[in-house]
Amino acid sequence: MADRLAGRVAIVTGAGQGIGQGIALSLAKSGADVVVNDIALNTAEDTAREIAELGRRSLVVQADVSEATQVNQMVERALAEFGAIHILVNNAGIATPAHITDLSEETWDRTMAVNLRSMFLCSKAVAPAMMEGRYGKIVNLSSKSGKKGGLWLTAYCASKFGVIGFTQSLAFDLAPYGINVNAICPGTVFTPLWDNVLKDAYARKLNIGADEVRDYYASKIPLGREVTLEEIGNVVVFLCLDESSYMTGQAINITGGQEMG
Ligand SMILES: NC(=O)c1ccc[n+]([C@@H]2O[C@H](COP(=O)([O-])OP(=O)(O)OC[C@H]3O[C@@H](n4cnc5c(N)ncnc54)[C@H](O)[C@@H]3O)[C@@H](O)[C@H]2O)c1
Repeated sequence: MADRLAGRVAIVTGAGQGIGQGIALSLAKSGADVVVNDIALNTAEDTAREIAELGRRSLVVQADVSEATQVNQMVERALAEFGAIHILVNNAGIATPAHITDLSEETWDRTMAVNLRSMFLCSKAVAPAMMEGRYGKIVNLSSKSGKKGGLWLTAYCASKFGVIGFTQSLAFDLAPYGINVNAICPGTVFTPLWDNVLKDAYARKLNIGADEVRDYYASKIPLGREVTLEEIGNVVVFLCLDESSYMTGQAINITGGQEMG
């Protein structure tokens, strides 16, 4: 899919590491220039360096995408630098697993703000430019946890189910302007989120060793292995190409068969 997205400008939120970084690199490999957002500056700069090595332009914007002022400034900078925004990937997200009796109001609110309000703010901020150009592709990160609940995941699943409702409704709002809005629902990916947060929490909730968690999750996947960042990037690139022009409001599983509904 080399160069199929040449001339397109993408914003990817939370692109400093993990899935967001993988998506940013997949888009760049396909020819897009990329606005690399993250709350953490140093990792965003790492991603930008890799994009430069691919021969594409990038703009690093450190911003907390749950904050309206920072989001609006990010979009203004992107438009000043590139003149248009064709693609928005709402990827930034957090997970803090906890039993309902241990889940604080602060964790609930922060989860909703980073995983859901950020999508509202970023989509609202880019919509006028996309509507004016009568072209746009918005891809929102839900999860297999956006289709099925899970132990210790009340806040995370509520936010990811919310992403799907948001995606469907935004697809209605923007369809008259030629803008496609879809969600992707990846299964388990062993990103820094896993290593830093989920592995230990899941070991506690499953009452197994931390070194057993990865095999435990892989054993539940029909294809028998985790998804790669490249496999997620491939689906996102497809959703940004003309080949997927009749798809909007969808929530696409990338779960190796673990989630089929
Ligand atoms: N890892 C998985 O198994 C998995 C599965 C399905 C869906 N997801 C979703 O994919 C997305 C990325 O997950 P990941 O595993 O790559 O996580 P990660 O923690 O490895 O990376 C997330 C990135 O987002 C950034 N970020 C966090 N809060 C931010 C904010 N307020 N503003 C801007 N940037 C912020 C972080 O600094 C980090 O670089 C999330 O939405 C997550 O819910 C992950």
